[in-house]
Amino acid sequence: MAVTFNGNYLKDFMSEEELWALAPAVKAAHDALHQKTGLGNDFLGWLDLPTNYDKEEFARIQKAAEKINTQADVLIVIGIGGSYLGARAAIELLRSPFYNNLKKDTADIYFVGNNVSPSYLQEVLSICEGRDVAVNVISKSGTTTEPALAFRVFKNLLEKKYGEEGAKERIYCTTDKARGTLKELADKNGYECFVIADDVGGRYSVLTAVGLLPIAVAGCDIKAIMDGAKEAENALSDSNIEQNDCYKYAATRFALYQKGKGVEIMVSFDPCFGMMAEWYKQLFAESEGKDNKGIYPSSATFSTDLHSLGQFIQDGSRIMFETFMDIKKPKQDFFIDADPNNFDGLNFLSNQEMSKVNGKVMEATILAHTEGGVPSVVLELPEINEHEFGYMVYFFEKACAISGYLLGVNPFDQPGVESYKKNMFALLGKPGYEAQKAELEARISK
Ligand code: PA5
Repeated sequence: MAVTFNGNYLKDFMSEEELWALAPAVKAAHDALHQKTGLGNDFLGWLDLPTNYDKEEFARIQKAAEKINTQADVLIVIGIGGSYLGARAAIELLRSPFYNNLKKDTADIYFVGNNVSPSYLQEVLSICEGRDVAVNVISKSGTTTEPALAFRVFKNLLEKKYGEEGAKERIYCTTDKARGTLKELADKNGYECFVIADDVGGRYSVLTAVGLLPIAVAGCDIKAIMDGAKEAENALSDSNIEQNDCYKYAATRFALYQKGKGVEIMVSFDPCFGMMAEWYKQLFAESEGKDNKGIYPSSATFSTDLHSLGQFIQDGSRIMFETFMDIKKPKQDFFIDADPNNFDGLNFLSNQEMSKVNGKVMEATILAHTEGGVPSVVLELPEINEHEFGYMVYFFEKACAISGYLLGVNPFDQPGVESYKKNMFALLGKPGYEAQKAELEARISK
């Protein structure tokens, strides 16, 4: 069981020889990663995490998840970027995009602190009315403004509802082991804390408490996730590209980028993959997009987007390639019965599972887009379950690291994110930003 690379549809765009020609560069990237000699080498804790994760903390995560499910109808997960996308992706993929509407014995889960929309916040607050609530606040730095603001609101809500002592029993913090405002507050108030290790960056942290606690609350088997990741850690450790599907994917992206394909569209044919694609976008955008380089990661869910983006992909600017997630076995299937009168003329689709029809939609799309000049990479996923999710997370994390090294960038920092933050602080009047505030306001009023 594994994510498998299928390059069969690439023949019109690049030869196998071109891929194999990248073997020395891939080997160099692999060595830099494994020998910890490359850029950002102090952020490689994710590399052996499936083997070396903290087992004691893992057991605490499982216990906390059980406790949350006994004490709360609603879990509010507060975080942004790498501190929220992985958990949401897992829950929508493994449980359902309709998770909160399912009949279940686990808490509903809402994600806040990833925007500053007052309407969004008010709507989640009104959903909480009359229901028992717990909060998992997640911030590696412990200082990010958007989640900090949301936490202020939900901390107040819990304290009003349950009193200060009662609130403490319902607040779970996932943050740095020693630094940051959140850690200080957690220590002062005695909140249960989970640690994001120094050497694991936000977007590589889904297999830590960052992702695992909310995922466990949703009723997913987090041990199976770690086992899947461990399988990937072993299977994807070969430096030889010919034996390593993760490296084939990374090198193919790089080869296509060198041929002018600066946009990758991550495509799936199942909406449950939608948030997974959001997670992929953050992982690759923050890792690769720097020094005026990088592939712009985007996503589409088909058939939905075939009736919107599909036109552009088929016919518009030839700037992109697609990566199709070919999910071999859906979580559930649906048998299409024949209609005795064939009233809608659709009996040609009948007497088969709907997944077969979806498979043909995919083949038809790949052939059409390939003919339209869009290279198609196919990644095959045998089925959707916790084990495969863990494998896939590790597959993409490693592909991203190798891609970054092939590009010559540091895949583990995100200096560009700071620019908007500085302006935001200045415009909002944060102490210490007075000069910048005046300068920005002068620019606005021009
Ligand atoms: O990948 C990253 O490092 C970022 O996307 C962070 O996850 C994001 O900025 C949130 O940061 P923090 O967890 O410090 O609040």
